[in-house]
Amino acid sequence: MNDAYSIDKNSSEFLGVIKVVFRSAIKEFPKISIGFAFLAIISALLFTIGPKILQQIIDAIIARTDLKEFWSLFIFYGLCLLFGAVCKFGAQKTSFYIATQIEDNWRYLGLDHYYNLYLAWHDKHDSGEVGSKIDKGGSAVFVVIFELFGNNLLVSFITIIFIIAYTFWILPSFGWWLIAPLPIYVIVTFFISRKIAKGQAHLNYLAETSNRALYDGVGNVRTVKAFGKEGYEKEYYAKKWSGYHTFEYRVEKLFFIQDFIQTTIEITTRTALLIYCVFAAFKGYITVGQVILLINYQQMTFSPLAQLNQLFTRLRRNAKKVSRLFNIISESDKLKDKPDSVQIARLNKEILIKNVNFVYAGNIAALHNINLKIPAGTTTALVGKSGAGKSTFALLLMRFYDPEQGTITFDGINLRDIKRSSLRDQMTWIPQDVSLFNRTIKENIAYGIKNASQKVIEDAAKLAHAHEFILQTPKGYNSIIGERGVKLSGGQRQRLAIARALLKNPGVLIMDESTSHLDSETEKAISESIQNLRHKTTQIIIAHRLSTILHADQIVVFDKGKVLAVGKHKELLKNKIYKKLYDLQFHRKE
Ligand SMILES: Nc1ncnc2c1ncn2[C@@H]1O[C@H](COP(=O)(O)OP(=O)(O)OP(=O)(O)O)[C@@H](O)[C@H]1O
Ligand SMILES: [Mg+2]
Repeated sequence: MNDAYSIDKNSSEFLGVIKVVFRSAIKEFPKISIGFAFLAIISALLFTIGPKILQQIIDAIIARTDLKEFWSLFIFYGLCLLFGAVCKFGAQKTSFYIATQIEDNWRYLGLDHYYNLYLAWHDKHDSGEVGSKIDKGGSAVFVVIFELFGNNLLVSFITIIFIIAYTFWILPSFGWWLIAPLPIYVIVTFFISRKIAKGQAHLNYLAETSNRALYDGVGNVRTVKAFGKEGYEKEYYAKKWSGYHTFEYRVEKLFFIQDFIQTTIEITTRTALLIYCVFAAFKGYITVGQVILLINYQQMTFSPLAQLNQLFTRLRRNAKKVSRLFNIISESDKLKDKPDSVQIARLNKEILIKNVNFVYAGNIAALHNINLKIPAGTTTALVGKSGAGKSTFALLLMRFYDPEQGTITFDGINLRDIKRSSLRDQMTWIPQDVSLFNRTIKENIAYGIKNASQKVIEDAAKLAHAHEFILQTPKGYNSIIGERGVKLSGGQRQRLAIARALLKNPGVLIMDESTSHLDSETEKAISESIQNLRHKTTQIIIAHRLSTILHADQIVVFDKGKVLAVGKHKELLKNKIYKKLYDLQFHRKE
């Protein structure tokens, strides 16, 4: 994206949002914007001239001018109104086009940024809520642009300027009548709409918290059912939602008050103007046609202001939504590539972990002073109790987080200096909680590489011992697997995840409890096929079941975030903690 989409620290303020959105539209469509401004000016001019011709017609009637002279006025009057309407329509159509294009660009920018943000940020944010901010923010960009460009606002305001300027020119003392009420009107609208916007921001907050409760419950429907908590979940949601309408009523009341004050200002000033005009007409200062012209003009100055009432509130509300999208976009990506980040090739020598410490946000110390060497082409197994830090270690290798202290190097290059995409090309990770897409089996397996052929997909599935069960699903490789793979068994999901990883022909493969749901026989078969890849793939295997890792070149025993021991199985049997783990699993007595 170009600098049309740059944001700074003021961009979340109301005027900042308007400025940024406006700028993105103008910079992205400079020619259309100029054409649009031109159309708006022409139509405003025509709208100003229309009542003037009407005045001439009326004055001509009163003066009993020859009927023939009227025709040119009629035609001119009709044409003015018609062209004015056509220009306005053109302006609206153009702004609709601009608004949709710019909306899309901001949406994509938001989503792109979301995916790129570092994992610690994602840990803190609810994905559904962020998704909704991107969606609503995108729609709000449309509204802001459409309100600004289309929806008559610009045309109406240029018309006001023309009307006032023209009135001052022809009847200077009457110009003040048109201007006088405007500041009061604008000030009242500004302050009340600010209150309304605040109220609506709170309404958004209420909607978001209740939606979070709603989606959290709905997404866990199986657990809800298993615990018989259907009623509880409904109550839980109702508690969050119930305040919404009560508060909404208070906000609506502000709308009524605003409307009432505005209508009062409008009616009072119009009546006063009418009285003044009638007196002036009786004294012969102005004609009857001019009385009608002035009343017409006064009405025309108020109609956009009446719109302003709703429009300003709408703008504020939408600007707030846009600012939330901007907040996501302006979030700095702490693990972003540096300009001099380098590409890496397949692991050739080793991954070296030196004095690594890591603390999660919220001060949960997860890793202390880890030192380890993972030579290329070997199998390293990580074992240890639950919560010992094994998965965290894997996340650091993938550079989802950076260590607080210490370094991790890949063939001598610090992970911080490697292009993120290049690192993820070389390292493939199967997470402990397998996550699959609600797409076809084929799409899930082929996720990591572009244009994978059916044969390559099937080969990977065979290696992961998934081919057979895939063929038994209703549409084979084209079967859709349901949300998060709900239509598959736990072990089947794991096998798809393994196939997806193997298809990438990874240089380094990290498997976090990837066979934990499989029966011993299938687990053994998969372990064997993965062992066979040893010559080309460096393997890091996290396992609770020691039977799967006895063959490893080195076994690393984690405990409370520390590495307690490193060695081959036989050497480690001398280690107390490892021996205990081993004895427990193999039912040996001391
Ligand atoms: N995203 C997170 N934010 C904060 N703390 C976390 C996060 N993920 C893990 N932890 C904490 O870090 C510690 C290590 O967790 P980790 O997942 O690495 O353990 P593990 O050895 O993989 O355990 P298991 O065998 O149960 O998978 C735990 O105390 C855990 O509560
Ligand atoms: Mg784990």
